[in-house]
Amino acid sequence: MAATISTGATELRDITKMERIGAHSHIRGLGLDDRLEPRANSQGMVGQAKARKAAGMILKMVQEGRIAGRAMLFAGPPSTGKTAIALGMAQTLGADVPFTMIAASEVFSLSMSKTEALTQALRRSIGVRIKEETEIIEGEVVEMQIDRSLTGATKTGKLTIKTTDMETVYDLGTKMIDALSKEKVTAGDVIAIDKTSGKVSKLGRSFARSRDYDAMGADTRFVQCPEGEVQKRKEVVHTVSLHEIDVINSRTQGFLALFAGDTGEIKPELRDQINTKVAEWREEGKAEIIPGVLFIDEVHMLDIECFSFLNRALENELSPLVIMASNRGMARIRGTKFRSPHGLPVDLLDRVLIVSTSPYSDEEIAQIIKIRCEEEDVNLTEGALMVLTKIAGDNTLRYALNLISTAQVIARKRKSAQVEVDDVRKVYGYFMDEKRSVQWLREQQGSLLFEEVGGEPRGDAMDTT
Ligand SMILES: Nc1ncnc2c1ncn2[C@@H]1O[C@H](COP(=O)(O)OP(=O)(O)OP(=O)(O)O)[C@@H](O)[C@H]1O
Ligand SMILES: [Mg+2]
Repeated sequence: MAATISTGATELRDITKMERIGAHSHIRGLGLDDRLEPRANSQGMVGQAKARKAAGMILKMVQEGRIAGRAMLFAGPPSTGKTAIALGMAQTLGADVPFTMIAASEVFSLSMSKTEALTQALRRSIGVRIKEETEIIEGEVVEMQIDRSLTGATKTGKLTIKTTDMETVYDLGTKMIDALSKEKVTAGDVIAIDKTSGKVSKLGRSFARSRDYDAMGADTRFVQCPEGEVQKRKEVVHTVSLHEIDVINSRTQGFLALFAGDTGEIKPELRDQINTKVAEWREEGKAEIIPGVLFIDEVHMLDIECFSFLNRALENELSPLVIMASNRGMARIRGTKFRSPHGLPVDLLDRVLIVSTSPYSDEEIAQIIKIRCEEEDVNLTEGALMVLTKIAGDNTLRYALNLISTAQVIARKRKSAQVEVDDVRKVYGYFMDEKRSVQWLREQQGSLLFEEVGGEPRGDAMDTT
């Protein structure tokens, strides 16, 4: 088994990573300059200079591959940009370094044990850059001849390909014919066929055919007919995560599970085999480990078992950088009776670098609101901006940001292109913030269902004073 560990490169290349749009879509990076100094307003980021700089320093270490096995914690009141900064870090990392984001409560909602869910998240965050040699057939198509059987069920054919030096004829099977017709390959195209996966790519039209230009349309790319042999060896480099290698080699699952997201539990023996194999590849110079980042948002939702598992996992040789975020002050550690800073046990706190985030000034809030307005294509009057800034100061930034798009709906109903103070005032009336909602509940005095009167005192939220 170990000898045939596959990296599934060809299947994986087609999985497109999903882009998050929404609350943080305006964040395009950390907004730091070359000396890692935070710019006042850049890449969608405003203020929170200390935390951004700290994040930038850690990132630098990740990019240099020097940080495996460390952890950091963003601690601060709600709406102070903890998640935003983590996402800014993800954007800066680049496509090759894995970044995984989970919310701590996800660990409990998956149909697998908590430690398995954490292990998968950790292994998702470690990239393996693999160099592989593949054989490709590259040349200009001279002729393609396809014979269909009477029923049309099977197809056979011949493909003649040439370079400037030679010409070769290949027999085609049904699968290859389908791949070629999907790419709409015709005589005169310059193509490349990956011999192991059978993937066909069209590189362009041969210059020799440039007189067909009129018939081809303006977007046709013309390329030289390749030189040398038709069959060539080529080195390709691709990056997959350890988790992807696990799933592809897990006999019960197969790579299709990656699309479904339902990967189930993976046997520890398989992981051992894969670790050994990857270590071997590393020694042979075929692979390189790229420790990435695992971001665990709302980390206080993990319980004591998860925390002690993390403690141990951080000491593992193959461990990514773990970034956590929590908005709790002194809080109970889930699964125990004890209270501890940020809801994290002290032995874990001891291992993490803690970065605090603090509430924004009015000026910074106004800038963030302006950025969001640009992102959501909303036009605010100066007055409305001032009111929203005031609301954000009194409540939370997030509440004010939520009002932007709702106020725009009201403005549109008036057929106005600008959101004015009155629109903001209206939505402020329609949608309660947390403080007014609590006040309203008090006034209702137990008329709602399932209310516990005189429950636990509030006080878990981070102290902002
Ligand atoms: N420095 C910033 N620059 C630009 N936008 C920001 C900044 N900080 C926060 N935001 C935006 O404000 C909103 C709230 O911030 P975010 O969700 O990051 O807060 P949080 O600290 O994670 O809060 P919570 O503890 O409630 O999860 C988001 O839409 C975020 O993109
Ligand atoms: Mg958050």
